[in-house]
Amino acid sequence: MRRKLAAGNWKMNGTGAALAELEALAAAHPAPAVDILICPPATLLHRAAQVAGDAIAVGGQDCHANASGAHTGDTSAEMLRDAGATAVILGHSERREDHDEGNDDVRAKARAAMEAGLIAVICVGESLEQREAANTLDIIAGQMSGSIPDQCTGENLVVAYEPIWAIGTGKVPTLEQIGEVHDFIRTRLERRFGEGVGRSVRLLYGGSVKPGNAAEIFGVPNVDGALVGGASLKADGFSPIITALESA
Ligand code: PGA
Repeated sequence: MRRKLAAGNWKMNGTGAALAELEALAAAHPAPAVDILICPPATLLHRAAQVAGDAIAVGGQDCHANASGAHTGDTSAEMLRDAGATAVILGHSERREDHDEGNDDVRAKARAAMEAGLIAVICVGESLEQREAANTLDIIAGQMSGSIPDQCTGENLVVAYEPIWAIGTGKVPTLEQIGEVHDFIRTRLERRFGEGVGRSVRLLYGGSVKPGNAAEIFGVPNVDGALVGGASLKADGFSPIITALESA
């Protein structure tokens, strides 16, 4: 059985004051029936790990492919781990776009993350143009084979399907569209890693998940949770999403 996962991506939002939201979330979910992960900005990671308590894990939003060295401004997987992270989001479409990250970069980062003992949450997803041209599954296939390294298990890999056109827009694919992509991702993982591993990797949906649409999205087969941006910033936005996942 895959343990469900509610992951929050704070992106470049939050200073010390935002930790009160994490504290409130921890107080509201002392013994959750699902895994909860909050990925704050790197500057908050260490403090977030202190206030999150045992029930909530914290993670990074990116890491460098190398363990250390002359890479001004970058953070290694080992450093994230040292600051208290147990996971890291990799290949988010904002990183792919803002920093020109390609599949090779994402794969190298994922390898580094896994070697440092972190769960790699690898993001894939098509643009609106690609969806309209009926290229969604080809794009997902290419991103998966390019970005996901070989040494994956159900413990160190999570795949997040995030259609770019749904991120921060309030637009959500139909449940059929979400189901089609998640089934496709599951099948490809099973083919590549074998049924045991392929079935144990958790698949998250991400893109405009809100308290109002979470329950129906969590009812789609092969959706094991969500990667949530905007609605994860406040405890009273993320908490009902966690509750919906617990009862899915
Ligand atoms: P959103 O972001 O929930 O604000 O749409 C999701 C994401 O980018 O992970």
